[in-house]
Amino acid sequence: MALPSGLEIPKEALDAEIKSFFESAPSLKNSDDVGQKFEEFVKKNSLLSGNGRARRVVCVTSGGTTVPLEQRCVRYIDNFSSGHRGAASTEYFLKAGYAVIFLYRRRTCQPYCRSLPDDPLLECLEIVGDSNTQVHQFHSQAVRTAITKTHAVVAEGLLLKLPFTTIFEYLQMLQMVAFTMRNIGPHAMFYLAAAVSDFYVPWTSMVEHKIQSGSGPLDMRLVQVPKMLLVLRKDWAPLSFCISFKLETNSKILLEKADMALSKYKMHMVVANELLSQKEEVVVVTSKEKILVRRNKSLGVDDVESTLIELIVERHSVYVESFDL
Ligand code: PMT
Repeated sequence: MALPSGLEIPKEALDAEIKSFFESAPSLKNSDDVGQKFEEFVKKNSLLSGNGRARRVVCVTSGGTTVPLEQRCVRYIDNFSSGHRGAASTEYFLKAGYAVIFLYRRRTCQPYCRSLPDDPLLECLEIVGDSNTQVHQFHSQAVRTAITKTHAVVAEGLLLKLPFTTIFEYLQMLQMVAFTMRNIGPHAMFYLAAAVSDFYVPWTSMVEHKIQSGSGPLDMRLVQVPKMLLVLRKDWAPLSFCISFKLETNSKILLEKADMALSKYKMHMVVANELLSQKEEVVVVTSKEKILVRRNKSLGVDDVESTLIELIVERHSVYVESFDL
């Protein structure tokens, strides 16, 4: 039974929905390997660095999840997200000294690659002579930056990139990261910019083969995806600093919904954005204030993420210090 929006679903009912979601989900490919990568990454970065402090680790989620309609999937429902927000934010977190686990939707925007053209292979390379290719002069700086910066942070063990496609993969990976990150308490942060599906077809009730189109209109019942934000905060990684996003197309309900998310899911911050203006401004909602963050080209601030991450890092520091007292 669907509850009217705003009403709390009882904890036992939510736990049961979450259990059933994970039990019926197709298991993650290479899950042992993925789990080991998370553990090694978090462990390495949580050891004391040169300044006598453990490095903070943020999990940035980016891009939209898909909902398959068939087990041998031909058709799926998708969520809007280019991955630009997540990729840009990752760059600024790395600049601020964080280690980043970047959980991203396959083939969406990547850190340090934002200024490459849409089709980098065909647009950046040109053929020279019979057997050589070279980077076109016009794109050479962007290509250099993308390659050198990405290789440097990966080689230093500061960036771990792992892809997802479906809602099943995304939530299983998020849970694995959370179980690993709980070991570093308040030094862990979740920055949940991915556009996550709200409705799905449970794997067990999904048809195996391609749905045939000859039999007229399609009737399909989608089940609500259990919101994992509260269990992430309460059970999976209770001391971590959590930021979720609220996306709406109607600006009139945006802040109200962000306030609701803050109190309902016990987030530390909610970043409210409206679809049409999301590249220009966002409002950061906390329990005490609402802060407008704007992109300001005249001050040399190229993107909204620069100021946004500065603010988040500052608030995370206050949070971490509150545990040192
Ligand atoms: O990638 P870009 O093109 O740059 O666009 C960035 C963005 C607009 C996608 C991004 O800024 C953004 O708003 N991401 C969140 C979109 C979204 O799913 O909003 P929502 O209001 O439906 O969900 C709110 C929060 O709940 C999100 O943090 C989401 O991770 C979480 N959620 C949602 C559904 C669900 N079943 N479980 C969840 O945990």
